[in-house]
Parts: sequence; structure tokens; C-alpha cells
Amino acid sequence: MRDKQCGAVSRDDIGSTLTLSGWVFRRRDHGGLIFIDLRDVTGIVQVVFSPEISSDAHEKAGDIKQEFVITITGKVRKRPEGSENPNVPTGEVEIYVDSFQILNTCKPLPFQLDEEEPSEAFRLKYRYLDMRRPEIRKVFIERSRAYKVTRDYLASRGFLEFETPFLTKSTPEGARDFIVPSRLNAGNFYALPQSPQLFKQILMIGGFDKYFQIVRCFRDEDLRADRQPEFTQVDIEMSFVDVDDVLDLCEGLMSALYLGLRGEPLPLPIPRMSFGEAMELYGNDKPDLRFDLPMVEITHIFKDTEFGVFRKTVEDGGAIKCLVLKGKTLTRKDLDTSVEITKEMGAGGLIWIRKEAGSLKSPVVKYLKDGEMSLMDEQLCLSDGDVVFIMSDERSKVNDVMGRFRLYLGDKYDLIQKGRFKFLWIVDFPLFEYSEEEKRYVARHHPFTSPRGSIKDFSGDYGAFKARAYDLVLNGVEIGGGSIRIHRKDEQMEMFKLLGHKEEDAAEKFGFLLEALEMGAPPHGGIALGFDRILMMLLGLESIRDVIPFPKTQKGTCLLSGAPSKIPQRQLNELRIRVTGEQQ
Ligand code: AMO
Repeated sequence: MRDKQCGAVSRDDIGSTLTLSGWVFRRRDHGGLIFIDLRDVTGIVQVVFSPEISSDAHEKAGDIKQEFVITITGKVRKRPEGSENPNVPTGEVEIYVDSFQILNTCKPLPFQLDEEEPSEAFRLKYRYLDMRRPEIRKVFIERSRAYKVTRDYLASRGFLEFETPFLTKSTPEGARDFIVPSRLNAGNFYALPQSPQLFKQILMIGGFDKYFQIVRCFRDEDLRADRQPEFTQVDIEMSFVDVDDVLDLCEGLMSALYLGLRGEPLPLPIPRMSFGEAMELYGNDKPDLRFDLPMVEITHIFKDTEFGVFRKTVEDGGAIKCLVLKGKTLTRKDLDTSVEITKEMGAGGLIWIRKEAGSLKSPVVKYLKDGEMSLMDEQLCLSDGDVVFIMSDERSKVNDVMGRFRLYLGDKYDLIQKGRFKFLWIVDFPLFEYSEEEKRYVARHHPFTSPRGSIKDFSGDYGAFKARAYDLVLNGVEIGGGSIRIHRKDEQMEMFKLLGHKEEDAAEKFGFLLEALEMGAPPHGGIALGFDRILMMLLGLESIRDVIPFPKTQKGTCLLSGAPSKIPQRQLNELRIRVTGEQQ
């Protein structure tokens, strides 16, 4: 139905007659001529209806409206001198129509495709119209390119691509599972995989050295701008490797993706930071390093202080830490707002000190000794106008609140260098973390993660035991995570024991893995990269929904299809499911 795609018409076609098909993007009537921008996935080309070329076509062109689907045949001409459009690749030419056909009509649109941004609800409900907008179309073309870059890179390094089941058993990634009832085994349920973790380990035991899969994962969790209930991972597993092998491979892949999507090489290696350092300096394990502003510990300055708040912290073994905001002019109101913000974040209080005309000013100055003030001034290298925000409390609370307050300051005072890409590996994670909800230690990554050294060396200090796990962070967002795995059954059983699983429970849940670990499991490890998040970041977009063709809303609904929805009683009966209470 066409000789070529619209965006591919060029000066080389001048003089030839072409048939093209596409959508009517814009239409203009000028002095007897009708101009149409004909659009397809490759771009637009200008089409002209002239009574001198075909009075019939010109007359009938009156019927053509926006977003009609048409096919035209006509001669390609060079545009008259001065009317070229350098903004589009086809801007040197136009096509004079001999004949055309309307292939389909289009009702008046719910929103204009080339005007201001429609609401997101509208965009998702009419995603097929949204996708016709050039900037949205571009995202999905880039996404398709990113799949190819990923596959080419991994294939060139000997990785084999696999598919693993979607109808499976619950996997332990820590979120809730989506459950699928089994009709053939009424009363039994599949879980959609939160990741292919166990299957990829089984593939290693099956002898396939290097596995990858671009795979959908499902997690029933509360949604945010960078979270979807179904999302895509580039899932990787390798045998006979240690941490550096996985990180090197991943850096190569990230660099290929960066080059593919941003057109420039990524400086390697990606810096590494320990989990402990990240927590102490930035208060979280995914620091945004597009701006500096680390927390500075000043507990030592106040070890003999008479200021009650600080003294109590020192006595209780807590921490006094500060953030030094330099080169900004803050009003008293800004300072008061900062205090309020940190209180909302959970702080008992926030102290500010400002340097003015060479001396430190603050409501608390009168409680501090001269020596303490001068040490602060000197160690923090303060200049006039600098503000020191201080919090003193339990260490973990200070780190948490100041970490979030740092992000607030970064945003509010434009400290973040937009357009920069700061990649970072976080390494040396603790193997365990305490779950307030479950009132016990749980695996920080997942229970198949290998500790540093042997699990048998565990001293009883859950907080101090380190894992061979790593996360990849970009601009404050976790874009990947993985670990070296436990590959021996006795160690895996020990791990389950430390996590408080009874032997029978472990066998019932992960028996197939435990059995396989006893039959020649090689040392192995891997990583999963959040493909949607990587695209969102590298394309400079704010929401993960912008890079997923058919995303869910914050409430987990699909505005296009109307999922989730009720199902007929007959289907429920077949599954032997009775819905109790009101169906929402
Ligand atoms: P993890 O749970 O860290 O590891 O997931 C890997 C990466 O997937 C992305 N991600 C998400 N993206 C969008 N929406 C979500 N709801 C979501 N949840 C996670 C993140 C994250 O870094 N099996 C392990 C990997 C391994 O050990 O090899 C796993 O799934 O970018």
C-alpha cells in the first residue's frame, strides 16, 4: 500500500511518483492549495492538493479531516525556494497529489495531538492516540532500540536467552505475590514471579554458564513514580564468577545502553561506595550524587558540651551530624520552614547556625562554648552566608531524616545538576536487616545471597554480617541489584535457619532448589537491571509510566482495558472461589 514510509522521502525522490500511506497530522488551506502533513511512525512529509494537478483530488480533499487514514499517489517535487522546512528531514520536498483514497475516518479527537499536554488519565485511556504524538512515539522507538542493544551486547559475550515460567510458585523477593487460581487443581494457586531468581539459579545448575532474559516481573506493592506492578528486568546469571566479574559485565552493558540512548560513551569504571559509607554520608543506600552536600559528623566537637540536647545524644551514644548549605541566601522564614520539614520527617528538632559578618549566629549560640563554635567554624570551613543544619539523635534516625532533608535542600535550592548521570555501585551490604513488621531479621537482598566468607563464620551479630551483594544506582534511583549466591545445600540450610525458617518450611517452599544444590551446583551469581527505570532515567523522563506502552495507574488499574474487573460467577464457580464481602 506504499512505496516507502513518509519520513524516508528525500530529495533523491524528486521527479518520481510515489504512493504513500499514513495519518493526516495537520492540514492547512492556502490560496487554492491544500497542504497536509502526512504522518507515519518514521515522521511526516508534506502533501499538496492543487487544482492544477488534479481538480478531482483537490475537490475531494475537502472531506479529509484530522487523523483520517489516507493513501495518496503523486509526484515528488522540490519545494519552492524559501519554503523549505529545515526542522524536518523531508523538509526539502513535497508531493503533489494525483489521486488519493480515504482508508478510514476519525471522529473528533478527545485531545489535540500537537497542542498542550493532555491529562495523564486521558493519555492512558486513549493510549493509541497518545502514542501518535511524536515525543511519545520516540520513547517507544528508543525502548525497542534498547532491547536490541541489550540482546546484541549479551549475545556477543556468550549469553544465552531463556524464558522461565510465569505460572509458578511464590518467589521470595519480599513483595506480595499476584496469585492465579488453578482450575485443574482447584483450591491451588500459582504465583506470578516477582523475578526468575530460582529458575535462573537452576539454569546454572543445569550447566548453562551465562543466562539472560528480558523478562516481566510482577509485584503487588504500593506504586510510586518509579514502580509498576508489572515491570521489566534484564535478568542475568553467570557461573564461576565473583563480584567483580558481574560488575564488569554490567558496566559494559550499561555503557552500551548509554551509548545507544544518549549517543556518548559512559566513563568507566562506575565508582563504588560501601553501604556503610552511603548511609553515613547520604543517609540512604541510593544516594543522588548529582549534588554533593554530604552529612558531616560533628559529635566529637561536642563530647564535653553543656548544651543539654547534644549532651544527651553524646551520653546515649547517638550522633550529631550536620549539612552545610553554602552560597545560598536563606531568610528566617526559609530556616523556620526547614525546621518544620525535618519535624514532619520525624526529627525531634533541627538546629541551624548561620555565619554572618565573621561570627556564628543562632538561637542556640548562647548554650555553646566558644571552643565548640570555633572548632565548627574551622572544621566546616564556613564562610559568610553559610548555614549549618544540625540534628542530634540516635544515629539511624539522624541518617534517615538528614538523608531525606538533604534531598529536600537539593531540590529547593537547585543544587541538583540536571542533565548529569551519576552512576554508583553500592557494595558490602549487610546480609540481614531487621524487619519491624515481622519483628525478626530477614534477608536484606534475598535468602540465596552468599555472605562474605562462610555462613558458618556467623558470630551471632546479625547487623555486622556482610553480603556479597551489590546495587546499581543512578541519580538516586536503584536501577539494579544482585549478588553472588549460596551454592551449597548445607550453607543454604544454615541461612534458612538463621532466618528462622523451620527445616520443613524451607523444604516445602524451596525443596527443588535445595535438592538441586546437592547435585553439582557451580558457584554462581548475577544481577537484575530495572529496564523501565533505566529507560526512564536515560531518556530524562519523570515517570516510569512514560516508558511502558500500557502502564497501570497509581491504583494499579489499566485505564485502556479497564482491568482489574469482576469476573462472571460461572468462572468463579469453575475455580471453586467464593468472594466474601463486597467486591470492589
Ligand atoms: P531486585 O528486587 O533488586 O532484584 O530487582 C532488580 C531491579 O528491578 C527494578 N525493580 C522495579 N522496577 C519497577 N517497578 C518495580 N515494582 C520494581 N521492583 C524492582 C529495580 C531493581 O533494582 N532477583 C533479584 C536480582 C538478583 O539477585 O539477581 C531481583 O529481582 O531497578
